[in-house]
Amino acid sequence: MASWLLFSVFSCVLLLPEPAFGITRHYTLDIKMHNVTRLCHTKSLVSVNGKFPGPKIIAREGDQLLIKVVNHVPNNISLHWHGIRQLRSGWADGPAYITQCPIQTGQSYVYNYTIVGQRGTLWYHAHISWLRATVYGPLIILPKHGVPYPFPKPHKEVPMVFGEWFNADTEAIIRQATLTGGGPNVSDAYTINGLPGPLYNCSAKDTFRLRVKAGKTYLLRIINAALNDELFFSIANHTVTVVEADAVYVKPFETNTILIAPGQTTNVLLKTKPSYPSASFFMTARPYATGQGTFDNTTVAGILEYEQPKHAKTNIKNLPLFTPVLPALNDTNFATKFSNKLRSLNSKKFPANVPQEVDRKFFFTVGLGTNPCNHKNNQTCQGPTNTTMFAASISNISFTLPTKALLQSHYSGRSNGVYSPNFPWSPIVPFNYTGTPPNNTMVSTGTNLMVLRYNTSVELVMQDTSILGAESHPLHLHGFNFFVVGQGFGNFDPNKDPKKFNLVDPIERNTVGVPSGGWAAIRFLADNPGVWFMHCHLEVHTSWGLRMAWLVLDGDKPDQKLIPPPADLPKC
Ligand code: C2O
Repeated sequence: MASWLLFSVFSCVLLLPEPAFGITRHYTLDIKMHNVTRLCHTKSLVSVNGKFPGPKIIAREGDQLLIKVVNHVPNNISLHWHGIRQLRSGWADGPAYITQCPIQTGQSYVYNYTIVGQRGTLWYHAHISWLRATVYGPLIILPKHGVPYPFPKPHKEVPMVFGEWFNADTEAIIRQATLTGGGPNVSDAYTINGLPGPLYNCSAKDTFRLRVKAGKTYLLRIINAALNDELFFSIANHTVTVVEADAVYVKPFETNTILIAPGQTTNVLLKTKPSYPSASFFMTARPYATGQGTFDNTTVAGILEYEQPKHAKTNIKNLPLFTPVLPALNDTNFATKFSNKLRSLNSKKFPANVPQEVDRKFFFTVGLGTNPCNHKNNQTCQGPTNTTMFAASISNISFTLPTKALLQSHYSGRSNGVYSPNFPWSPIVPFNYTGTPPNNTMVSTGTNLMVLRYNTSVELVMQDTSILGAESHPLHLHGFNFFVVGQGFGNFDPNKDPKKFNLVDPIERNTVGVPSGGWAAIRFLADNPGVWFMHCHLEVHTSWGLRMAWLVLDGDKPDQKLIPPPADLPKC
């Protein structure tokens, strides 16, 4: 009798539906100065909890996160949870002067949000000036309890975060570039989990080592946190299976090399050799670069090491070490092939809810441009000419950050003089975007927002321009995932190109590489009220003005409205 009772209680627990609500998880992130040495250069940098990169934040789908960020540094700070939808919780999104005023020295702010309908690898980073160079870390969302991955359970999960190391102070670098109008200095190394690896001088001891067992499957959670560079990544003598991008499951495919733009995340399964290979393997990354400016063309390497069987006694240092072959630095052909392989999983459990009908269509250009040199006394600038400064724009509007936060200005009904709700649906002066560039490359400046009614179904074509050279731009949209329904080279043709759109299983993500000298078409449903930043995730382009914001209005129903601002929201 007793055992029967026990059994039925037990089976009841098993049969209970999974809890609809997650738990609340508390984190405290202290933003502090901290000395770090790489490449024999020691510098004091801004980091999280005295760690570089910052600590991993883990949650489950459905959990609420309460993350207290305390600013102990002289700089203003704000943190962004890159890829989190922030449904109705835009106050916690983080971009400075867009959804919040920055957290000032000695102040703190609690980011409060719930993870709804998302699971996978995302990340967090500072979202003010260039502080994200050192303030970043993984944000890992596990599936709800008892919900499996749509692929075999890995033996281990390993975050691999790519970054960029600068010997100099990155805040000084961007300040200098803004003053001269020139291109900012490039990084001195790339890093994997903060480590540049043995291909740089004075760096062998700072090498990321992935120790694996033979015959197992590892889930690598790859994040590109580099400031200004898309990266190719490959592991010698191994293939990986791509299973997720930007925290959305994809149709699995095998590849030797992945391409990952700043802002993007990619989960891959690494199946190790069935038996001990008596060798080690470099895992290397270096840029995919299409622009005309200088870039850091160095290579970061980590090492994949196999655990030795008990009888083997070779010193691991004496094993052969294989090196992968990466695509050429400008291999657009590889980039195109790789992005064409990415498809939403689109299964019963994980459908691709691509908007089939569109309420509003937009066409924006993205690219570089110039501003007149603003120096007094005939001093010259260091832009493309000595009378100009580099700029960048969307539809020729170089976006100026306001001095008050846009979301607060909108919410309190005091937007006059802060922003203009009139972003053009297509460029005011059309031209042959990818042909010979026009003589006048000057941008206009403004803080212009595109206003959308709640639940508008949007199609947006982003067109690269050839002004100062065509270049691939990783465009990131806050507050939404979008579907990449089409891409191509040259000028977008509104008559022919939409016929080829994929409305069945396009990749769903938060950051898309607009092809160099081409275009990308995305669709999303504007079902999240708030102000949502959209910008190039190459930090130098964002600084130059390749950014804008969408204002999505409240819906009529109570659950379609932005929640009221938290009491501790920072003030400007
Ligand atoms: Cu990862 Cu607005 O940025």
